[in-house]
Amino acid sequence: MTDLRRATPNDLAAILADLPAYWGDRDVRHLHHPMFVREFGDTAFVSGDVDGYLFGFVAPAHVGYIHAVAVHQRSRGSGLGRHLHTAFAAAARARGATRLKAITGAANTESIRFHERIGFTACLITDYSGPGQDRVVLTRDLP
Ligand SMILES: CC(C)(COP(=O)(O)OP(=O)(O)OC[C@H]1O[C@@H](n2cnc3c(N)ncnc32)[C@H](O)[C@@H]1OP(=O)(O)O)[C@@H](O)C(=O)NCCC(=O)NCCS
Repeated sequence: MTDLRRATPNDLAAILADLPAYWGDRDVRHLHHPMFVREFGDTAFVSGDVDGYLFGFVAPAHVGYIHAVAVHQRSRGSGLGRHLHTAFAAAARARGATRLKAITGAANTESIRFHERIGFTACLITDYSGPGQDRVVLTRDLP
């Protein structure tokens, strides 16, 4: 499996320049705040050629929070998404995390199936992001 490295501001710029190749029609530019590479770079990973990336952090309650994970359309289905999660889980555990968490929309069945396949449990939480803003919360214990 391809080597992963810490994500840099240059990687973020490359991702933003090619966002539909990772996310399709969804406008997710707002998920790509520079703090994820500048402040939380120890838990932000990319593959060498930016075929995939994961931005996350460890919250004070010992939760490794996966903020965004995406794989370029040309590289889907080759295990890169799982590889990025494995790298993040190791980094999060080393920083004291005992649990992993991610959230997604109920319509993003692709993300829900992917996360369930790699060991997460999905739970629909009503009004998670405010009135009428339900979200699927994905969690996994870190052994
Ligand atoms: C979700 C995503 C990151 C998966 O990346 P990927 O590199 O294709 O996934 P992997 O090849 O590592 O797959 C890992 C496992 O999940 C399964 N899987 C991946 N995508 C799946 C899907 N859409 N439906 C069902 N299972 C899926 C694979 O079959 C594999 O299972 P296996 O290892 O038991 O064979 C990728 O599809 C993507 O970038 N989607 C758009 C962005 C997005 O929605 N991100 C998640 C929200 S934060």
